[in-house]
This record gives sequence, structure tokens and C-alpha cells, in this order.
Amino acid sequence: TASDLKTILDFTVFLARKAGNLILEGSAAIQSASSESNVGEKKNAVDLVTEYDVGVEELVKRELKSQYPTFNFIGEESYSAGSRPPLTDEPTFCVDPIDGTTNFIHGFPFACISLGLIYKRRPVLGVIFNPFLDHLYTGIKDQGSYLIKPNTQPLRLPLSQPPKLLPSLSQALIAVEWGSDRTLTTINAKSGSFSRLAGNPAQGVIGGKMAHSLRSMGSAALNFAMVAQGGLDFYWEIGCWPWDVCAGIVIAEEAGGVVSGSHSAFSQSSNENFGVVTEEILTGRKYIVVRAIGDTPICYH
Ligand code: IPD
Repeated sequence: TASDLKTILDFTVFLARKAGNLILEGSAAIQSASSESNVGEKKNAVDLVTEYDVGVEELVKRELKSQYPTFNFIGEESYSAGSRPPLTDEPTFCVDPIDGTTNFIHGFPFACISLGLIYKRRPVLGVIFNPFLDHLYTGIKDQGSYLIKPNTQPLRLPLSQPPKLLPSLSQALIAVEWGSDRTLTTINAKSGSFSRLAGNPAQGVIGGKMAHSLRSMGSAALNFAMVAQGGLDFYWEIGCWPWDVCAGIVIAEEAGGVVSGSHSAFSQSSNENFGVVTEEILTGRKYIVVRAIGDTPICYH
């Protein structure tokens, strides 16, 4: 019920702040260390993991299990270590302990914990906390999303009222991400879209228009949060995992954003509903689009 979700939100916010302290401690330790010996590689040399990703996930998993013993848990690091529970209709926490691990390692202060709850295969609650800036984003399905900053009242999202519409591509600020999949097909598709969005005349500009500019924040969850806030008009990425997007979906949608995804090559008309979390999303890769209200999808390759 709505009040159950509110209680869960209070607990997950408490937990996100606790995890945030550990993320800050880890960052201080990494920045003061003379080597990067604690940085490990997953599928390739740019898919990074640290002991803090694992430590934060263990903390969060332990506390969630003791508070909500019947809920399932999907986490980025447990998943890569082989713990892959089947997705059911039961309540399932979906957690990225540090989204933006590369930023975290480099000391670029855009990393967060992303903590989502899936119920009946739909994301229903999300908490995204960037401890470096002390920015906390929360969302509950049908109850709105908020930004909470130090010493201020919670701010309802989107921040601009009435919500800023995206009148056209030529006035848009768009987030794109390089991600860690550097295979030829993916990198060609991505860089082709980036270049077209930036207005490369050799590629034919979309609808005769180029975007104001492109940004890469290095964290999928923070891109969702920034679209929800209204600072970005659009976020497009190939290759997100559910823990990258679960919390962000709720926060962005509650702020009036639209989330779409597709397995097939993304087309201008594609607007498949991405609200449902499926086994396929868990094990495969999706194309993610988050856009502000008022425009048609604009990226394709
Ligand atoms: C990654 C970041 C990155 C995005 C990738 C994500 P991680 O998550 O959000 O910006 O491009 O798709 O997997 O590895 O930092 O948790």
C-alpha cells in the first residue's frame, strides 16, 4: 500500500545515507592511496569494481534482509558474483551500491547509491543518493519524486513549474554515456548517434536540427535524476542494467518523464514501455531513453 511504500522509503533513505558515508570513506582512502591496486576489472579494462562496491552492497543487502526478510534482492556485485535470483512478482530490491564507479575511482564527484524496489515486475520506489554533493532523490509510484538538499525543504520534481517542455532538439541538453561495452558494434552505434546529435554535417543532422550540447555524467542513475530535476532534457544510453535504472525510472516518471527501451536498433518511432522489468532485462542489455515530456524520441542509429 501507499503507506507501506512510505515506510520502506524512510528505511531505504536511512540506508542510502549510511551507505553514502561508506562511499565517502572509500573515496578518501582511494584518493590518498598511491596506487590503484584495489581497483579490479570485470569484463574488460574499463569495467571497474572496487572493494567499496562490494562492501557497500554487503552492508545494504544485510540491512535490507534483516528489515525485510521476505523480499528478494538483486544487486550489481552479487549478480556478478553469481547470485542471480529469478525475477518473480514478489517485492525485490534492486541495488547498485556505487553507480558511477569510474567517477568514484577518479575522484569525479558524481557517484551515487541507487536503491530501487520492484513489485510485480514494475519499479515502484527509488532512492538515489550522491554523498559527494549531499543530493538525495526519492520517488514513490503515484506519490511524486523529490530532491532533498542540505538545509532545505524537500523540493518536488521537476524543479521548474510548470514543467519545462522540450520544444525541439535544437534546444535540448542531452546526456549520453560511453558505458563499458567497447565492442566495435556498440561503440560505432554510440559514437554515430553522438556525432549526429552534435550536428555532424557529414551524417545528416536529425530533422535538420542539432542539440545544444551533449553531457556524460558517468552515472546512469544521476542522469535519470537530472532529467527528473529538469537540468537535462533527455538521456540516451545503450547497455544499462536494471540496478542502473530501477530507482531512476520511478524518480523520472514521477517527475513527468517518459522512459523507453528497445532491444532492436532504436528507431525514431520506437516508444516501447520500459516500465516492466523482465528476466530479459536482467540478463540482457537494453536501450534506455529518458526524455522530458513534449517531444518524440530523437536518437537512432
Ligand atoms: C555504469 C554507469 C555508467 C553507465 C553504465 C553503467 P557502474 O554503472 O552508470 O555511466 O554508462 O551503463 O553500467 O558500473 O558505475 O555501476
